[in-house]
Amino acid sequence: MILEKEVTKSEALLNIKGLKSSYDESLILRGIDMEVPKDTVVALLGRNGVGKTSLLKSIMGLMPKTEGVITFEGELIIDRRADYRARLGLGYVPQGRDIFPNLTVKENLEVSLSIAGKPGEERLEEVYELFPVIKEMLNRKGGVLSGGQQQQLAIGRALLSNPKLLILDEPTEGIQPSIIDQIEDAIHLLKGQGGLSIILVEQYLDFAKAACDDFYILDRGSVVQTGKSEELTTEVITQHLTV
Ligand SMILES: Nc1ncnc2c1ncn2[C@@H]1O[C@H](COP(=O)(O)OP(=O)(O)OP(=O)(O)O)[C@@H](O)[C@H]1O
Ligand SMILES: [Mg+2]
Repeated sequence: MILEKEVTKSEALLNIKGLKSSYDESLILRGIDMEVPKDTVVALLGRNGVGKTSLLKSIMGLMPKTEGVITFEGELIIDRRADYRARLGLGYVPQGRDIFPNLTVKENLEVSLSIAGKPGEERLEEVYELFPVIKEMLNRKGGVLSGGQQQQLAIGRALLSNPKLLILDEPTEGIQPSIIDQIEDAIHLLKGQGGLSIILVEQYLDFAKAACDDFYILDRGSVVQTGKSEELTTEVITQHLTV
């Protein structure tokens, strides 16, 4: 059942309460509470297989079964379809390389623009400035770009939809350090402009700590620690994140 607009008192851009999710009969997320305020970068951390990607999929409407509360700008979205959520301003860059390998870079951007329309075109120059390599490689096939370049293209595509919340699942996975630096710079620049919050799933803790305002650590489908960036101490890391 789809509930009509329900407004909460929360000031947060995204609010999650008591979220439970599953793919089949076994519960993956066991009651998550999480808040993403406006203009905030939230790092989502945790060892492999604890449910980070499943949480992002739940936010985007891509999990088979969810229950609990998810609101975006006060609107209850947990029963809404993924395309509806995208139109509300949720931009998602999944784990791995979310581009069309057989289309050129230009065509990859055009696919996003065909959905985003005019506001997207206005962001195109900004995307070129953030990731100059995209502009340099417009006529190459997406599949021949390096992993890092493909990741930049994937983030660029998501930005063209003018999101209010950008969700990045391990953007630095398997990418060379120089491009990791460029992605980090882009996150800082985007954050500085205001009007955008980011959820960042990250295994590189230095990168996550430098980029985030708040963090959440998941373990076996539950939040085991949350705090401000400066509270992500060596002790916390040793307790919850060291393998
Ligand atoms: N399509 C699926 N069907 C059934 N179970 C799944 C599916 N995808 C993931 N899982 C299971 O859900 C649990 C959480 O997986 P998830 O991908 O959310 O973890 P993660 O924290 O993102 O891990 P990683 O750091 O390796 O990306 C794991 O036990 C995984 O095996
Ligand atoms: Mg994952």
